[in-house]
Amino acid sequence: MNRVDIVDVISDFVSLKKSGQNYKALSPFNNEKTASFFVVPAKGLFKDFSSGKGGSAVTFVMEHEGMSYPEAIRYLAKKYGVEIKEDASTAEAQEKQSEREGLYILMNFAKDYYHHNLFHTDEGKGIGLSYFRERGFNDRTIQKFELGYALEGWSNLMDEAIRKNYNKELLEKTGLVVKSEGDRVYDRFRGRVIFPVHNMTGKVIAFGARMMGKEKNQPKYINSPETEIYHKSNVLYGLFQGKNAIRQHDTCFLVEGYTDVLSMHQADVENVVASSGTALTEEQIKLIRRFTENVTVLFDGDAAGIKAALRGIDLILKGGLNVRVVLLPDGEDPDSYSRKVGTTEFQKYLSTKAQDFISFKSGLFAREAGNDPIRKAESIKEIVSSIALIPDPVKRSVYLQETSQQLKIGESVLLVELNKLLMQERRRREREQVQSAVPPEFDANLEQIQAPAVQVVDPGDMVYYQERETIRLLINYADKTLEDQQVAEYLLHELEDVQFSNHTFREIHDEFALQLRKGTVPDSKYFLEHGSPEVQKVVTDLITRRYETSPHWKEKYHIYFPHEEEILKDVALSNVLRLKFRVVQKMKEDNLTKIQTSEQNGNWDEVEKCLVHQAGLIDAERELADMLGIVVAR
Ligand code: UTP
Ligand code: MN
Repeated sequence: MNRVDIVDVISDFVSLKKSGQNYKALSPFNNEKTASFFVVPAKGLFKDFSSGKGGSAVTFVMEHEGMSYPEAIRYLAKKYGVEIKEDASTAEAQEKQSEREGLYILMNFAKDYYHHNLFHTDEGKGIGLSYFRERGFNDRTIQKFELGYALEGWSNLMDEAIRKNYNKELLEKTGLVVKSEGDRVYDRFRGRVIFPVHNMTGKVIAFGARMMGKEKNQPKYINSPETEIYHKSNVLYGLFQGKNAIRQHDTCFLVEGYTDVLSMHQADVENVVASSGTALTEEQIKLIRRFTENVTVLFDGDAAGIKAALRGIDLILKGGLNVRVVLLPDGEDPDSYSRKVGTTEFQKYLSTKAQDFISFKSGLFAREAGNDPIRKAESIKEIVSSIALIPDPVKRSVYLQETSQQLKIGESVLLVELNKLLMQERRRREREQVQSAVPPEFDANLEQIQAPAVQVVDPGDMVYYQERETIRLLINYADKTLEDQQVAEYLLHELEDVQFSNHTFREIHDEFALQLRKGTVPDSKYFLEHGSPEVQKVVTDLITRRYETSPHWKEKYHIYFPHEEEILKDVALSNVLRLKFRVVQKMKEDNLTKIQTSEQNGNWDEVEKCLVHQAGLIDAERELADMLGIVVAR
């Protein structure tokens, strides 16, 4: 764990931006518009406020990659070149886990085997390699994408696997071999060039195999089936090889095929992924969103391409991403076109021909509509219907303005149309809601037309926040000195008679009390190592500073914010007072309820006792309020 650098680990998956001492990013776990994902390198922790997830580098890898604890440990050990010794024998749990591991190992073996064939067998060189060469793929590209060749014949791969003592049953589970009805087992890929599909950490999880000849009655590509480690809808071809470039350029090109990705890399455009011939899925959009919010779709300019582009645009907008479109000349795909015009021209084409979706759509319909007013109205509706899919209301209004300018139509007209659509969508969802629960992300569409929720503050909540604040001070500053005593001593002493109502806070408080009696002061690390899962979560929350004052305040306006540590004494004192104040308020409220019920039951002795108590509480409240400088209504 000492070797692990959490920023380095997380950067493999998320594009982090420095923010003070810490880093932040858009949550990789949720769709969100403002960054609420924080990494605190000094503590080796991350915290995602939008999903509530948080913890160490191990937790992150587990959550993000869906790995078990041992898998995550193995992953990190490998990344940092640390050897781990494992006990060979444990229960069946290990078997299940080692099945996934086994699949990865077999896929890796197959990848190496196919790759070896390509360069070291006569058939591979003569057929596979020369095919790639003919298509203009150089060795660098072949190595980067680990391309390969599957020999002709029914069992080359299977025989090699058995020779190397791989498990036959597991081999079937990889989908590398197929079992026929007569229980005959044979290689799935034969006499084809091989495109390995990698997951985000670079492990091979599937293969696409392209035929080279022109045989009819044969599909152009044969692909791996879904397995325990391969879920088609959740994978983008080229993401592993392209993710850093996507982060750097803050934009991602989206193409259709394997060969498009390869050719674009060769044209020095590495920020590209392919949906591999299927319609884009929501999960794939979320994958892109981990690295950038900007997608440029590249499509063939023929009718089918345009139709596909239109569908893709709407899906991407719905996923909360910004979308631009590049239409290639009729009949060209990125692979053919980049090779035809060469790197420089191709790059120039991408940068000059990219249009935002409004100009793309309006251009398209303008061509069709001409001066026909009815057709023009239709095209406006088309554009507004795309805008209505965007979850973020601020973005929606920006696009509305843009449309208004481009089409020379009043913004208010467009807004009426937009609200009509949002309303329809809302009614539709409400109807659906009756039948089933609605995924919350879609509700974001409706915020413009929903009444704002009224917030009611409950004294119980206030107690909670104040307790939380006390624990926060303890966790962060326990061992700091205030005049002649430590913060922990001071807080615990002052709050001796206060019983924490939240049990996790109480647990932490009691542990502090126990340790202090032993003469030691625990810190956040102590709780992260020894606390219960709830305690660990609370502690992670409390040591991550969500809001940092912008340095601009100081530079630009000469307004200075003291750091909390400098004014710790005031902070600690006012916290103690506030907590007591809130507790007294809560007691007042509870006591009042007791008076009411005692009255109803005719229990007058109890009523009198409570009234005396209430008077005492009111005095205490006033005294505390005076000290805090709060004026309470008398
Ligand atoms: P394309 O037909 O555009 O193939 O399909 P391509 O990648 O451009 O290949 P070349 O240039 O003809 O060699 C786009 C993608 O659709 C999937 C593949 O992922 C392919 O890359 N596809 C296509 C299949 O899975 N099976 C098929 O039979 C055809
Ligand atoms: Mn192609």
